Amino acid sequence: MPGQAAELVFDEATKRYPGREGAAVDHLSLTVPAGEICVLVGPSGGGKTTALRLVNRLIELTSGDIRIDGTSVKAQNLVQLRRGIGYVIQQVGLFPHMTIEANIGTVPRLYGRPRSWIKTRSAELLELVGLDPSYAKRYPAQLSGGERQRVGLARALAGNPPLMLMDEPFGAIDPIVRTRLQDEFLRLQREVRKTVVFVTHDIDEAIKIGDRLAVIRTGGRLAQYDTPRAILEKPADDFVAEFIGPDRALKALSLHTLAELELGPPADGPTCGLEMTVRDALALLLEKKATVLAVTDEKGAVIGSITREELLA
Ligand SMILES: Nc1ncnc2c1ncn2[C@@H]1O[C@H](COP(=O)(O)OP(=O)(O)OP(=O)(O)O)[C@@H](O)[C@H]1O
Ligand SMILES: [Mg+2]
Repeated sequence: MPGQAAELVFDEATKRYPGREGAAVDHLSLTVPAGEICVLVGPSGGGKTTALRLVNRLIELTSGDIRIDGTSVKAQNLVQLRRGIGYVIQQVGLFPHMTIEANIGTVPRLYGRPRSWIKTRSAELLELVGLDPSYAKRYPAQLSGGERQRVGLARALAGNPPLMLMDEPFGAIDPIVRTRLQDEFLRLQREVRKTVVFVTHDIDEAIKIGDRLAVIRTGGRLAQYDTPRAILEKPADDFVAEFIGPDRALKALSLHTLAELELGPPADGPTCGLEMTVRDALALLLEKKATVLAVTDEKGAVIGSITREELLA
């Protein structure tokens, strides 16, 4: 089965749907380096889903090209191409009559993997996405929406594809579970290091998940492609600035954690861990009506403090 991560290049990729005025994706050019997460954000109807589907050829390019590790998607056999790409969508599309284990084993089965191998691999993947191994024998209807979404992710990872396409994978999930899935997805990505193209409507999710963001404007044109930090600090134009929101200075604070700051001596106050973002730390101060936070290590021991003034600086 495939492995590693692949570089993905959109090269003037263009899609015009027949009978529609204007392009859905218009001369889109960008490179996603191997092992990075690129998040596509932009207004509804802007062409994000179309851009993803051009990659696995659920939709064919009108002009331009898309290359995976240097090979054009047009030059590849469709079956081979799709086996090398994990695809996760909002309504997961699990097979209802198959157990979770069988769902996860879909692609490995195509590769002729034996049943025992698939069983072991499913158990590993369930653990990886944070589900108990006992879920293997259940059916999709016996899972919550968030759990099904994890199974969808496990299934997409099962063939060990070098590239993952994720179209609003956490879109229909409540905020608490969504935050947890985002955290788990990031932890997972640190382990498996796939190249990922991730579509979301949620700019906060984009900033949290993305190594790079591609802001797409209506008509499928690229407005800006850069790291979240660069985009928050220097939006390319009014469209981008408006899209990321007037609170972009506050959003930028979510890119830094307390571990990056110089702490004062241990003090009394509401406690927070080193991994907390500066934005969350400020929110905690406001909520607790405090002026100083006690910062703790993994074991919960207070190792220092940080004041409101220091956070704002
Ligand atoms: N099969 C199709 N035939 C014709 N037009 C289509 C087709 N699929 C999408 N479109 C049009 O192409 C444009 C881009 O659609 P697309 O689904 O790529 O947008 P999107 O950015 O994913 O939107 P959303 O955020 O709402 O999911 C829209 O104007 C849409 O109406
Ligand atoms: Mg879409």
